[in-house]
Amino acid sequence: MSRVVVAGSFNVDHVWHCATLPRPGETLAGGYSTGPGGKGFNQAVASALAGADTTFVCALGDDDGGRLARRLAAAHGIDLRAAASEAATGTAGIYVGDDGTNSIVIGPGANAALTPEFVAAQGEAIAAADVVLAQLESPLHAIVEALRLARASGAHTLLNPAPANAGCSRELLAVAEVLTPNETEFSGLLARHCGADVDPAALAGLDDEHLHRLCRTLLPRGTVVLTLGAMGCFVSHREDSLRGDGQAHYRCPAAAARVVDTTGAGDAFNGALAASLAGGPTRPFATHVRFATRYAALSTERPGAAAAMPGGDEVASRFPGA
Ligand code: RIB
Ligand code: NA
Repeated sequence: MSRVVVAGSFNVDHVWHCATLPRPGETLAGGYSTGPGGKGFNQAVASALAGADTTFVCALGDDDGGRLARRLAAAHGIDLRAAASEAATGTAGIYVGDDGTNSIVIGPGANAALTPEFVAAQGEAIAAADVVLAQLESPLHAIVEALRLARASGAHTLLNPAPANAGCSRELLAVAEVLTPNETEFSGLLARHCGADVDPAALAGLDDEHLHRLCRTLLPRGTVVLTLGAMGCFVSHREDSLRGDGQAHYRCPAAAARVVDTTGAGDAFNGALAASLAGGPTRPFATHVRFATRYAALSTERPGAAAAMPGGDEVASRFPGA
């Protein structure tokens, strides 16, 4: 069985649906719902539903949010390894507009209690993993430890450098084999690590050679999968390490979807990419990217984050014959 370890956050999401996202000084009324989220947990649920034996390493409070995480992890067959925190379980306030776009504020709470020591104590699970996946809603030194241990045991490492303002370090980039930024995150990383000033809104329109050069500058040793929302994604490999693909760079178009809520679509993409890669490490990388793109598209057709993740078999039934 293919094994994925996800290290990251769990949040209780509080979601308000409004016609448009609120502007400063504005008060709106909107439909309210609550459900499980956190980039880490969303990715772990996607990985499990996409067919990987999944372990989730996180930190939880001793409260209703923490119990929700444990109950849902059990329901999805996820092996939960939670550091205990005195703080309240993480929360997120999310506004979703009628067009499916969102704005999010997170209250890290217990997520801040994930330590390198707790991660290292899960070393056996990490050593047994095919892929280790992390994001940046948890303390960066704990995430570095997860990816460092993964590399040491020969697992593939996937880093989703989200959210954009988390301050992804050089040290962290050095242990990421595959990096999956969106446009805002990519632009921020280029500014921080390469001194390059690139408008995120202009990225999808740049020519492929130009995008490839930017990716190579940012992550010379690894693969970059730049996600471009409705424009799909752009993949850039190191020239001598094509991961089964026939070319060093290419685009993968987005799959058609009847978008309701894009919250967690990036997480769906990352969890599905990790599970697919773990299940067929020698298959062309492009096949994993295509699966992840389709899986993410289906996740936007349902409201919510972790609760919107589709089953892996839904991808095959919705997009047959490819
Ligand atoms: O990526 C979506 C997630 O971001 C939400 O579930 C919210 O909890 C925040 O972490
Ligand atoms: Na969704």
